[in-house]
Amino acid sequence: MSQVPNFDVKDQVKQATDVVDLIGSEMNLRRQGSIYVGHCPWHDDQKPSFQVNPNKQNWVCYPCDVRGDVFDFVMKREGVDFREALEILAERAGIEVRSYQKKVVKGSVDDKATLYRAMAWAEQEYHECLLNSDAATPIRDYLVDRGITQESIERFRVGFAPLSWSWLVDRSSGTSFSPEILQACGLVSANDRGGWYERFRGRVLFPIRDTQERTIALGGRVVPSLYPNGDAPPAKYVNSPETRLFSKSKNLYALNLARNYVQKTSVKDKRLVIVEGYTDVVAAWQAGLTNVVAALGVALNEQHIRLIKRFADGITLVLDGDEAGQRTMNTVLDLFVAHDVDLRILSLPDGLDPFDFLMAEGGGAFQALVDKAPDAIAHKILVETRGVDLVNDTHRSNQALENILKTLASIPEDENSTAKSIREDQMLLRLGRQFQLAPEMVRRRLTDLRKKTRVRPDTSDSEVKKDLVDYSKFDKKESELVQLLIQDPSLLDRAVENVSPEQFRVGVLRDLYELMGEFFHEGRGVGYQQLTVEVEEPRLRKLVDHLHDEAIAKKEIHEEQNSAYAMDFEDQLQSIILRFNEREVESGTQAKISKLHSGGLDEDEEKRALEELFRQQLQKPNNSI
Ligand code: CTP
Ligand code: MN
Repeated sequence: MSQVPNFDVKDQVKQATDVVDLIGSEMNLRRQGSIYVGHCPWHDDQKPSFQVNPNKQNWVCYPCDVRGDVFDFVMKREGVDFREALEILAERAGIEVRSYQKKVVKGSVDDKATLYRAMAWAEQEYHECLLNSDAATPIRDYLVDRGITQESIERFRVGFAPLSWSWLVDRSSGTSFSPEILQACGLVSANDRGGWYERFRGRVLFPIRDTQERTIALGGRVVPSLYPNGDAPPAKYVNSPETRLFSKSKNLYALNLARNYVQKTSVKDKRLVIVEGYTDVVAAWQAGLTNVVAALGVALNEQHIRLIKRFADGITLVLDGDEAGQRTMNTVLDLFVAHDVDLRILSLPDGLDPFDFLMAEGGGAFQALVDKAPDAIAHKILVETRGVDLVNDTHRSNQALENILKTLASIPEDENSTAKSIREDQMLLRLGRQFQLAPEMVRRRLTDLRKKTRVRPDTSDSEVKKDLVDYSKFDKKESELVQLLIQDPSLLDRAVENVSPEQFRVGVLRDLYELMGEFFHEGRGVGYQQLTVEVEEPRLRKLVDHLHDEAIAKKEIHEEQNSAYAMDFEDQLQSIILRFNEREVESGTQAKISKLHSGGLDEDEEKRALEELFRQQLQKPNNSI
């Protein structure tokens, strides 16, 4: 029983996505003759110079010199690769990308589309409640008191959940959102008595949206005036739990807003400023700083880095002026340095958080601090040497230097970047001066440490490392076979008949070949498009890309040299199969010869082995014994 392979998932998605509809949901477009125009999201556009053509289903911005179809738009806007863009648009169009994916029942707790709608609905309910309800009067007063403006409340869609156990569940009657759906969104919880209770009751709510503007979670802050009698107020913050829509390690508060501004920054310095709290972000925006985001109550991690890199080249991390903030810094610093993100550190004056500072000093003063924040290494030097007598206390000063150099050593080297090596030279000069050592000595120590960091298997970053495959070590016929099949999937049945996965010696190629075999047996396609979509494992996905790129490069070279693309695919396959067989025979022969040598065969066996070897030699085209 074979299923219908969805070879053309890309085409399906393209058919189902209207370019005006897609782009129009992200920015204002207006009709101008046969096209639509809007303000380009990638440059400071006064004109509107962004054009969308519904007939051709494409878009262009001439000043930016960028153009493309719906996929290109999502790739550029979301900073993702083709596969992810395809997934985003497929989800939007309700098309299943993976044919083997578990089918979800529409409207069930597994149906993400329903959960997104429920979150949007809840956000709106809470927001209206804050704006209009009598119960929210003390909350509106509280916000005014803290200097949070009406404009901010609207920009951030701030809301309020009344101090009731069932407010949201009550409101949901008459909608299509069951309490189970609200529970799957992390908005309500089941109690022991078979009822439901409101997770965020009595809290000011800060909705968290993903970069596609979908509400995925809420952060809820306690409001002290709701507890007038000195009742112990509950925890200061309650946040959404991890749900099917939300992972706090993979999102940043207000990135949905900030990325619009960061993407427009035409200068090289596309920078995000990261503060600690929701209220810090609100205050920053209110003061006119539009590139400020917050981590959601977790330490910055590798996933954040990946997210940030989609939109920005660098970040400025704002630390409250306390010890704890400074200490957590060290791990974060090494992480960012290792990932080659330009990290700067801004330590605020004692005891102030960004909210207080912004309210007291304003956006200009804050921006001035951001502008002169030292880079991570300079900050590290500051922290490590603080309070150390560098001339007299040799032990501590050695330790400090060692720590600094270790961080420097973990910076990935880039022979092509002169800027980087100049910066490194400056750093070493400065260290030499500070520690009163010859710069060459400092350099030597750094080189030693680099060697060490290089050979040591790096576990902290293993996820990235294990994806690294040395393509130069590939067995040629093995990679050629897989590459050929990606180019011409119709050859797969012949390949599978003649070459088994066990005949591969390169593990990753074997794995991909085996997987392609499985796809084939299940009646699915194995062309580039299909593999891009359906191969899950990053290592194999990269391999698919690599082989595909290489194939294109080869083809281009052939075309350039005008050589009729050497052999056709069938002939290539034939020759590859032959080469696989030769190797089989050869290794079989080797095994027999070594058995003969070791004398491990009885007389009969020995005779048969010799006869067999002899026959093989005769069959060889160029027999030389
Ligand atoms: N946070 C949290 N859970 C807590 C405390 C804090 O998730 N129990 C997270 C929230 O994201 C919060 C951030 O840490 O925004 C910073 O905490 P804090 O400085 O205490 O709160 P602020 O948001 O700055 O709030 P406020 O200005 O009202 O004190
Ligand atoms: Mn704070």
